[in-house]
Amino acid sequence: MTVPLIVGIGGTTRPGSSGEKALRTALAHAERLGARTALFAGPQLADLPMYAPEQPERSDTERALVDAVRQADGVLIATPGYHGGMSGLVKNALDLLEDLRPDARPYLDGRAVGCIVVAAGWQGAGVTLSAVRDVVHALRGWPTPLGVTINTVAVQAFGPDGACIDPATDAQLAALAGQVLHFAAATSALRAPSA
Ligand SMILES: Cc1cc2nc3c(=O)[nH]c(=O)nc-3n(C[C@H](O)[C@H](O)[C@H](O)COP(=O)(O)O)c2cc1C
Repeated sequence: MTVPLIVGIGGTTRPGSSGEKALRTALAHAERLGARTALFAGPQLADLPMYAPEQPERSDTERALVDAVRQADGVLIATPGYHGGMSGLVKNALDLLEDLRPDARPYLDGRAVGCIVVAAGWQGAGVTLSAVRDVVHALRGWPTPLGVTINTVAVQAFGPDGACIDPATDAQLAALAGQVLHFAAATSALRAPSA
């Protein structure tokens, strides 16, 4: 397999959002494990127009996101829990993946997707993780066995510089990245022509 590409999508418009910090941490683990990565965080997601099915024109940011996911060997999604589901910002980005419907590998087909949810309570985090996984299934992606939930009220997971300072959270984000890469390697081996 060539060096796998893992694409991260998530965070909020707020600079230094905990979702973005978690996503950056997981992507750093993916790089440590041998991947190359691309990040679409709050500023890029906020630059996406509201997805409109009747509107075929695409901005540079829209094209960049769709092309990156098209080439991705695995995906990481991080969202805050907002009222029992993912944020509109993140969902708008995922709706844009409708552009991948006619591809030979539609949507997130054949790719593992690691899901990260940050919320102010465990109930909101758990419910939202389940909702995110439903969306990944709809996009034909393979949610990893582990999903990472971070209760931002109960756990101080990140320092002011964005570094993950909670060993348990860091270990989970590392495991998440590892599962996405493991699946990418396994499916790549299956696709490879036999000798
Ligand atoms: C509009 C809105 C809705 C929210 N809804 C919930 C919720 O239903 N359950 C919950 O636990 N937290 C909820 N929260 C809290 C956020 O999930 C929480 O503050 C999270 O840590 C924000 O992550 P961030 O640091 O990445 O912005 C909500 C916050 C906002 C702004």
